[in-house]
Amino acid sequence: MKNPFYFGKEVVGEAFTDRTFEVRGLLSDIEQGLNIIIYSPRRYGKTSLIKKVLGIARERGIIVLYLDLYPITNFRDFVEIYARALSSSEPPSKLKGFINILGKLIPKLMPKVTLGPKGGAEITFDLGKIFKEKEAVLDDLLEAVHKLATRKRKPAVVVFDEFQEIAKLDEAEKLERQIRTHIQKQQNVAYIFLGSKRHLMQDMFKNKNRPLYNCGRHFPLEKISSDDFCVFINQRFAKTGININPNDIRMILKITECHPYYTQLFCHLLWDNCREQKKIFPNHITAVLSQLLREEEHSYSIIWDDLSAVQRTLVKALAADETLPLFSHAFLIKYGLNSASAVQKARRTLEKKEIIERGNGHYTISDLFLKKWIARLAHPKTDALE
Ligand SMILES: Nc1ncnc2c1ncn2[C@@H]1O[C@H](COP(=O)(O)OP(=O)(O)OP(=O)(O)O)[C@@H](O)[C@H]1O
Ligand SMILES: [Mg+2]
Repeated sequence: MKNPFYFGKEVVGEAFTDRTFEVRGLLSDIEQGLNIIIYSPRRYGKTSLIKKVLGIARERGIIVLYLDLYPITNFRDFVEIYARALSSSEPPSKLKGFINILGKLIPKLMPKVTLGPKGGAEITFDLGKIFKEKEAVLDDLLEAVHKLATRKRKPAVVVFDEFQEIAKLDEAEKLERQIRTHIQKQQNVAYIFLGSKRHLMQDMFKNKNRPLYNCGRHFPLEKISSDDFCVFINQRFAKTGININPNDIRMILKITECHPYYTQLFCHLLWDNCREQKKIFPNHITAVLSQLLREEEHSYSIIWDDLSAVQRTLVKALAADETLPLFSHAFLIKYGLNSASAVQKARRTLEKKEIIERGNGHYTISDLFLKKWIARLAHPKTDALE
């Protein structure tokens, strides 16, 4: 029998839960051509949510472009991913007619239909000359979806997933400026920017000196609500004939803090461990917690070994209490630190390395189980449930 809990890449269908409010809001923004900036810590479900929304948008006749920018390392990659997204906005059955339209929209990329490795037809581009005409190629691409939407009298949506990767390119500033110039004129196209590196995203969109400053509505994605997760977990276990008590579900969610990825990972392991006996008891739950911490031991030790003494003190303090006023006199005394500036420096480095992040007014350790691992390291007898 297949494990009903899934973790890793985005989830679809039955494995996707809740987010009704977000789905409704995003669809309405898309239909009105509004731009949206969605950010959350890693693995909160941004891609899953947006793919769900895009599926519905497509059914409603909206032109959809989805670009995953995670792998880009240069301008050429950006152009190629954009051009591919544009060419897959039409179903393969309409390729023949579409290639003529594409040829007019992005002539410099010389799109043509070729036979793919699996025998099906696909559109390919000539990217050899783009370096001589970078700006013009990008102008064509960024206008293409708008022209397509106008021609078809349909709204369109362009999603840039992992948009913060743009900031690492040599041409970042120019690229952002050009994107801004085009998107602000296009009433029929909604642009959605997704990112998990909060400090990079906020700098791109909340810094007055950056081209994309305030170019859309900010949409911080939260965790999944405990009530929704309770129903989901109960149903997923029940579907495979396993009974779980509501108190035990609450115990799981207390450990995973309703983090979408960790909740699915935790339940996945629990299901594996209990599939034979078909019953779950609290000791199974604590066993999974220990198992998870044990499995991550190696990677967490590498992170720990790489930290300076002040950085270690800071993460230990945060693992014990995330609401601490980090730079107060009382904090320095309590943790035997003698300089607020050294704490500031450690905080900056930890944030840059994404070991800690700021949210809801205080700092937290980004990886929930790293936090529990550090708490156990600092106080071996501490129950990581606390
Ligand atoms: N709506 C949901 N219902 C159930 N599980 C979810 C949901 N959203 C996310 N998850 C869980 O979180 C995992 C990560 O989801 P996803 O890849 O969409 O997140 P992300 O925020 O895009 O991550 P990343 O920051 O790595 O890009 C999924 O594999 C799944 O286990
Ligand atoms: Mg993602």
